Amino acid sequence: RDLAVGIHDLSFATGQLVLTHETLAARNGTELGKYHVGIGQRSMSVPAADEDIVTMGAVAAAPILARHGADRIRTVVFATESSVDQAKAAGIHVHSLLSMPSATRVVELKQACYGGTAALQFAIGLVHRDPSQQVLVIASDVSKYELDQPGEATQGAAAVAMLISADPALVRIEETSGVFTADIMDFWRPNYLTTALVDGKESVSAYLQAMDGAWKDYTEQGGRAFDEFAAFCYHQPFTKMAHKAHRALLESCGREVDEAEVVRAVGQTTAYNEEIGNSYTASVYLGLAALLDNADDLTGQAIGLLSYGSGSVAEFFAGVPVPGYRAHLRSEQHREAIARRRDIGYADYRERHQQAFPVDGGDHPAPRETTGPYRLAGLFGHKRVYEPR
Ligand code: CAA
Repeated sequence: RDLAVGIHDLSFATGQLVLTHETLAARNGTELGKYHVGIGQRSMSVPAADEDIVTMGAVAAAPILARHGADRIRTVVFATESSVDQAKAAGIHVHSLLSMPSATRVVELKQACYGGTAALQFAIGLVHRDPSQQVLVIASDVSKYELDQPGEATQGAAAVAMLISADPALVRIEETSGVFTADIMDFWRPNYLTTALVDGKESVSAYLQAMDGAWKDYTEQGGRAFDEFAAFCYHQPFTKMAHKAHRALLESCGREVDEAEVVRAVGQTTAYNEEIGNSYTASVYLGLAALLDNADDLTGQAIGLLSYGSGSVAEFFAGVPVPGYRAHLRSEQHREAIARRRDIGYADYRERHQQAFPVDGGDHPAPRETTGPYRLAGLFGHKRVYEPR
């Protein structure tokens, strides 16, 4: 029980294309302030024609395997809510692209944006059972809403890969967790749709209600007091949601809602998400990456993490950066992944968004577009084929 388990390495990847909110606002007649200030978004990542959750997951995980090898990884857990197959785990394609050993179990997990945290917690349990093992967690999603609907401005695409191990080099995850589940239809995607359905306002209040429930449970489970936290990393469907969530938590803890305090608590967690957009399962961990990459030394200080998945499940837990963690960060790689995206402009974006998914079982090679190391070669006889580029 005294064993420290947590995040040993963290790396993210994002789609190689980008649409800015400046372009979106100019073309759909929205005031730019609504995007930049109101929802806190500046641009959204869009996957290239031969990118998807698998290729982004592989790009995110490859540097982790290059640094640590795969010898101790016996489990790969792939969390997503934009799955590419109803049966086969997307992680098997990643396992193959990265030439991982066959003595590995691979599985896919789903509960909306909460799936990444479920994967993390399951991984921690496996490492407790056998501390010599490591677990590769990949959270990868492409967020897609209907064009010209309020959700459109909150689209995005990214994958986070995390290596979970004993004696982690980055962040120790504490055992106390607060959890909450409620059966609610705030956001969902039926199997026959490629875009998510959402009741926008309902989803924001469902998020806040679930957060409140998870925080209360965390407190009842003997978790840390509110004042012990140096920063709070919230799931960020749009980055202003982190501000809303923190205001609500302050209220729930009987504190005065002071805007300067809100910015202090969440301000350094939003830098990546405001450029990438919603990456669903990856979002809260992009928040953690931004905090670790950009904040002053946080060694030994508690970070509160709030994961929310519509439908709905929430979990509140704490992570503590360990001594020396800053030497293991991938800040440069992360900033470059965002900076090198290619701006596609409005017409190109719309065309890509409306592209119909081929369902005829024929051969559909994907256009060569990504400059990354892995690509979707195409669909051939209903099979997705991936290849190194
Ligand atoms: N300058 C500054 N601010 C402005 C402005 C301007 N010119 N114009 C508007 N605003 C502000 C508004 O006052 C509002 O602020 P508050 O939220 O503080 O009231 C904010 O901009 C947004 O404006 P609206 O509420 O009018 O925006 P909207 O009707 O377009 O809806 C949304 C916003 C509900 C988030 C919508 O984008 C949406 O449906 N998104 C998808 C669903 C979603 O992200 N839900 C979040 C919770 S669910 C979840 O977390 C799971 C998940 O990942 C999906």
